Amino acid sequence: MSGPRRIAFINEKGGTCKTTLAVNVAAYLALKKQRRVLLVDLDTQGHAGKTLGVDVRELRPNVFHVLTDPSVALEAAVRPTPVQGLWLLPSCRDMADFPVTVASAPDRERLLAKRLAGPYAQGFDAIVFDAPPSLGLVSTNILLAAEEVVIPVATTYLALDGCAEMAKTVELLRKDGRHERLTVSLVVPTLYRKSALADEVVSTLRQHFPGKVTEPLALNVAIDEAQSHGKTIWEYAPWSRGATMLQAIADRIA
Ligand SMILES: Nc1ncnc2c1ncn2[C@@H]1O[C@H](COP(=O)(O)OP(=O)(O)O)[C@@H](O)[C@H]1O
Ligand SMILES: [Mg+2]
Repeated sequence: MSGPRRIAFINEKGGTCKTTLAVNVAAYLALKKQRRVLLVDLDTQGHAGKTLGVDVRELRPNVFHVLTDPSVALEAAVRPTPVQGLWLLPSCRDMADFPVTVASAPDRERLLAKRLAGPYAQGFDAIVFDAPPSLGLVSTNILLAAEEVVIPVATTYLALDGCAEMAKTVELLRKDGRHERLTVSLVVPTLYRKSALADEVVSTLRQHFPGKVTEPLALNVAIDEAQSHGKTIWEYAPWSRGATMLQAIADRIA
């Protein structure tokens, strides 16, 4: 099937670099590969927009309205970003009401997939999803709208649980026929600082996901600083070690 690539950054745990990777990889595809990219934020915190320097709090309509009100056109909610070639479907606290608002809709698991099936969304080269730190209806919507799943995993004790859980969910959706083409395409060990435990986590990941585990994304202050300035690493510190590490990961996806 043609149409845009659809890549989800997802893990039920918080603070595993989902947003950092979604934003920087989306911007990489736009800036360095000249793709037209739509970044879809689905987290109530709205951090994808915030880290791009977009104030998402006042933006209406946003992803919540697109998903819950068929009269809202997707193009009315999608905004340009300071990054050329990158557009944002913003989120904010409104999304907290999503599961309750659509609870009785028979197609509640496929609302996102359906809204992205139209000609406007199909005109992008890639759609990148930034997921919330939870398993539930929002995550199911993301998985049914995506095709490639990237799991960022913090290299800490217990981190493997979240990763295994996500891989099981993907497997389940494939086996029960809800999404036969869904695959875990990449696992990214994140917030890495060399220690026996961190190396054990990475080597366990490599056993479970042969050929799919990237080099670890080490702790790096430029990555954190870039976000505090509302910039991608490509704009804020293109020569930093952070940029080199993120580029190696982005190149596995590009
Ligand atoms: N490589 C890194 N080095 C240092 N801090 C990082 C790095 N990657 C992300 N961070 C910081 O860690 C925090 C959590 O990252 P984030 O991408 O928001 O995680 P998630 O979206 O999974 O909750 C953010 O404050 C971010 O700036
Ligand atoms: Mg996030």
